Amino acid sequence: MKIVVIGGTGLIGSKVVEHLAEHGHEAIAASPNSGVNTITGEGLAEVLAGANVVVDVSNSPSFADADVLEFFTTSTGNLLAAEREAGVTHHVALSVVGADRLPASGYLRAKVAQEHLIEGSGMPYSIVRATQFYEFVGRIADEATVDGTARLSTGLMQPIAAADVSAAVARVAAGDPINGTLEIGGPERLGQDELVRSALSAKGDPRTVVSDPEAHYFGTKLTGTELVPGPDAQLSTTTFADWLSTQSVTQSAPVR
Ligand SMILES: NC(=O)c1ccc[n+]([C@@H]2O[C@H](COP(=O)([O-])OP(=O)(O)OC[C@H]3O[C@@H](n4cnc5c(N)ncnc54)[C@H](OP(=O)(O)O)[C@@H]3O)[C@@H](O)[C@H]2O)c1
Repeated sequence: MKIVVIGGTGLIGSKVVEHLAEHGHEAIAASPNSGVNTITGEGLAEVLAGANVVVDVSNSPSFADADVLEFFTTSTGNLLAAEREAGVTHHVALSVVGADRLPASGYLRAKVAQEHLIEGSGMPYSIVRATQFYEFVGRIADEATVDGTARLSTGLMQPIAAADVSAAVARVAAGDPINGTLEIGGPERLGQDELVRSALSAKGDPRTVVSDPEAHYFGTKLTGTELVPGPDAQLSTTTFADWLSTQSVTQSAPVR
């Protein structure tokens, strides 16, 4: 099948393209760097010509509330319209577990808006909702840091390796549309504070981590299990410790 991966140069997208190509598909990485822009529409019709499936793993360059909402609604609207024109028969998008449970987060509100556009589009679709990537823990630490101290929520997370997310997204893209949502996550539930503490310590990052139940996570408070997947989720087996052990020991602090 011809499968166009929007955001195919990104963390998840580049590995999705690899998986699909390994399985004999014609996988095309599409992003502004390859002349395809879902905001301006540049290159969209051309890259979608003859495509069977579109995988959207793009991300907003800015996480400011208004910017991220504008990005996901404009990009998804343009993409779905272009897919209809091109006769695409499966739209796959990557969203976030618990997005609808945390409406105080502008980023998660934007992901819910993206999901609603897809669900209401009439296009056969599959939404994969993933938990936070291990690769994202450095950014969580950075967002929470003021003057060398990272203040982290005690809310629970069940993070997952980006490689496992990419494999799951590629599997879904190669299958029939589920016209619904699949949740995926990692094997362990960890407090956000505990997760960041072990990540920083493994990299020799000198920041202090303070556990604070009131600390915000991208604009929202976590009270418990909002970011944790439900009982039907597909769980991968790579633990955070497994993943840390594959990261270069020569990588310099701070963790990213
Ligand atoms: N981080 C997490 O823990 C987490 C958890 C669950 C779900 N997700 C979701 O996972 C998805 C992928 O995240 P990621 O970390 O892989 O993203 P990423 O590495 O930041 O990559 C973003 C991609 O989007 C592309 N892009 C940006 N603007 C675009 C535009 N106007 N038109 C087309 N493509 C555009 C970029 O292209 P260029 O390289 O050309 O700029 C890049 O390929 C996101 O939708 C995110 O919401 C993330």
